[in-house]
Amino acid sequence: MRKPITLLWSLRSPCNLGCRYCYFGTIEEHRGRPTRPVGQLSHLSRDDLKADEVFAFARTLGHSPVGRVYVAGGEPLIWPPILDLLKILKEAGIEVVVCTNGIPLARKEILTGLVSLGIDAVSVSLDSTDPAYNDLWRPARNGADGWTQVINGIRATRHATPRLRIGVYSVITRCNIPQVVQVARLAADLGCDYYVPQPVALDTTHRLHKELSLRVSDIPTIQEAFAELYAAGLPLTLPHPGFPTQVIASISHATATVQNCFGGHTLHFIQPDGTVWDCPSSLRIAATPEGRRKTIKGHSAIEIFPEPRGCRASCALFSRDCVNMWPLMDGVPLERAA
Ligand SMILES: C[S@@+](CC[C@H](N)C(=O)[O-])C[C@H]1O[C@@H](n2cnc3c(N)ncnc32)[C@H](O)[C@@H]1O
Repeated sequence: MRKPITLLWSLRSPCNLGCRYCYFGTIEEHRGRPTRPVGQLSHLSRDDLKADEVFAFARTLGHSPVGRVYVAGGEPLIWPPILDLLKILKEAGIEVVVCTNGIPLARKEILTGLVSLGIDAVSVSLDSTDPAYNDLWRPARNGADGWTQVINGIRATRHATPRLRIGVYSVITRCNIPQVVQVARLAADLGCDYYVPQPVALDTTHRLHKELSLRVSDIPTIQEAFAELYAAGLPLTLPHPGFPTQVIASISHATATVQNCFGGHTLHFIQPDGTVWDCPSSLRIAATPEGRRKTIKGHSAIEIFPEPRGCRASCALFSRDCVNMWPLMDGVPLERAA
């Protein structure tokens, strides 16, 4: 049986894409600003841990209750020593899911490495079946890569092995609601194993909030799209059937109380500078007292993540950020639904 704790590890800050809605913000916004609030991410990698600090911590994971790691970022697969890190995780018996924009999957050495290390799954982000839409919101920093390279990466991965599970994650905004079903169909055609539509989470002060955030008036369209998705009978695993209700709840209420939340109990979030939070929710991060802040820097995994005890706590800070955590803790299931 897998050990109880899941880490969402935002490993490195740099990314080869500059997604306009990204919760890291954009490099252009952060350039020239020497400091940023605690917990706020940035693709400028000013505070990322050094590789030896990352490795020192990773080598201690095998002696901890951590059983699963989602390796994200930034883009984890453009970090040169990524395969060495993944090797340490796999040798520690950990289930590893790499969250990637998919473009590096077309690099032979990366794909061969993932396959030979026995990585459990890759979750690839793709927002649309329309290349122009996808590349408008997820532009590559080199001005050349995009949708086509993502699809090539998925195809190459599927071609390389049937064992590595492949998932597609789409960010759903007011502008692409019908893609909830269309990307799922594409994912099925490409031979993927699972699909997760994730509602965009933007602070109300974000410059794209008005344009992109789902509103109460969008609920009927979203409900219709989810109903079609779950009725389509595609050979893909979807999030738990309660997921659409959670998405709708996050649109109807800015916050609410979640009973028995796994955040800080069996889920923890690590930022590129090594800071550890209960979960990635910006509300929860803001509410964390200074005395409760932890870092993986210079610490072993068992010190930071002891065996979970007692009951999960309720959290009054439910928001859109939380909705995207549920599919992670469902455990992006191993079996297909259809
Ligand atoms: C920040 S990326 C990092 C991993 C990898 N580079 C990728 O593109 O998947 C992790 C996931 O968060 C999603 N994401 C980024 N900003 C978001 C936002 N504001 N709301 C919802 N999802 C977001 C991305 O589309 C991606 O699926």
